[in-house]
Amino acid sequence: MATAEHTQVAVIGAGPAGLMLSHLLHLRGVETVVFESRSQEEVENTVRAGVLEQGTMKLMRDTGIGGRMDREADVDEGIEFSLDGVRTRIALTDLTGYNMAVYPQHEVLIDLIAQRQADNGAVLFNTRVDDVSGYDGDMVTVNYTDENGASATLTADYVVAADGSNSPYRAAVTALDNGARYKFEYPYAWFGILVNAPQTQKELIYATHEDGFALISTRSATVQRYYLQCDPEDTVDQWSDERIWEALHTRVDSEDLTVSEGEIFDKAVLRFRSAVTDPMQRGRLFLAGDAAHTVPPTGAKGLNLAIADVCALVPGLVHALQGDDARLQAYTQVAVPRVWRAQHFSYWMSSMLHVAPDASPFELHRRRGELSAVLSSEAGRRYLAEQYVGRELPDYMA
Ligand code: PHB
Repeated sequence: MATAEHTQVAVIGAGPAGLMLSHLLHLRGVETVVFESRSQEEVENTVRAGVLEQGTMKLMRDTGIGGRMDREADVDEGIEFSLDGVRTRIALTDLTGYNMAVYPQHEVLIDLIAQRQADNGAVLFNTRVDDVSGYDGDMVTVNYTDENGASATLTADYVVAADGSNSPYRAAVTALDNGARYKFEYPYAWFGILVNAPQTQKELIYATHEDGFALISTRSATVQRYYLQCDPEDTVDQWSDERIWEALHTRVDSEDLTVSEGEIFDKAVLRFRSAVTDPMQRGRLFLAGDAAHTVPPTGAKGLNLAIADVCALVPGLVHALQGDDARLQAYTQVAVPRVWRAQHFSYWMSSMLHVAPDASPFELHRRRGELSAVLSSEAGRRYLAEQYVGRELPDYMA
C-alpha cells in the first residue's frame, strides 16, 4: 500500500487503543497512519479477555461498528459470585441501569479493522517501526520497515504509542524528571482454557474456594472460556485435562450447577501485573492503553481502559491540530485518575477472590469476611456493580 509521506497522527499498534483512536479521529476529520508489526491474521486471531463495559458498547454503536456485536455478543444483566459453591447474583442492570457484553477483544478488532479499511484508512500490517524522533520539537519522524522489507519515513504532527505493555516508547516518558512508573506483581496467575462445550450457565461466575479462584466465562453457545488461579511459575504441561476439570469442579460446582466439560483446545498462563505510567505524554508523543498501564484481568478492565484513554485523547488532538493545545496538554490529568480507579477495582477484585499462597489463617478468614460483607449488602453489591459496568467514557466529540 502506498502511504502519504506526512500524516496528522501516526499511531503505533493496531490493538484496541490504536484502531479505535484511528477510527474516532477519522470521524472527526483527522488523518492517521496505523503501524502494526504483526499480520492482520495474527491480530484478528489473538485471544484476549472479553468483557465490554456499557460505555464501550455504546461507543461502538454510536460510531457505526456495533452491528455484529449487537447480533452476536452474549449480553448479560448480571454476574454471579460463588463462595464455596454458594452463589450470589449481582443484578447489574437492576442496580445500575446498565448491562455488559461478553464480546472478545479480537472480535472488536475485526470490526474496527473492517471499518478502517472500508473508510480507506491506512492500517499498515507487517510493518515495523524502527525509530521515532522529533517529539520534543515541531514535527515527529517515524522510520519504519514496510511489508516488503524496505526502509521508509513518515512525518507526523503527533505520534501515539498504542503498542502494548512492552512499548519501547514508554521509556521516553518515564525518563522525564517527573516521569513515574508504579508497579505491583501479584503472587498468582490465571490458567486460561478454551473448551468446545455448551455454556455452564448464561451469566459469568466468579468463584472462590479454599483451593483458589475460578472464572466461568463464555465465547459462544458452543465455546467456553474458563480460568483457574494457578502459580505464576506454572507451565501449560503441568495442567493435564484431568487436573483442570478436577480443579474447576472443586472450585465451582454446587448442587444445582456443574461446570460443562468438553474438548480443551487452548491452554495458556496469564501473568498478573499492575502498572501505571504518569505522565502519559511527552511533547508530541502520547501513550494509550497497555503501553501506559496494565491491569490484572480479574475485572476485565484492560480493553475498556484503553478505549477510555483514546476517548480522552481524541478531542485534545483535534483541537491541537486546529491550533489550541490546552486540552492535549491536559490528557494525562484526564486519563490517569480513571486508570487508578480501574487499578483499584482490579486489585480489589483480585485480592478478594484469590488465595494468596503466603496468606496467614487470619488473612484467609478476613478475605472471606470481606467478600461476604460486600455480597450480603445491597450497597456493597451496588458499588461492585457500578465499578463493573464502568463509568461513562470521556466525550470523543468534545
Ligand atoms: C473473559 O471472558 O476472558 C473474561 C471475563 C471476565 C473477566 C476476565 C476475563 O473478568
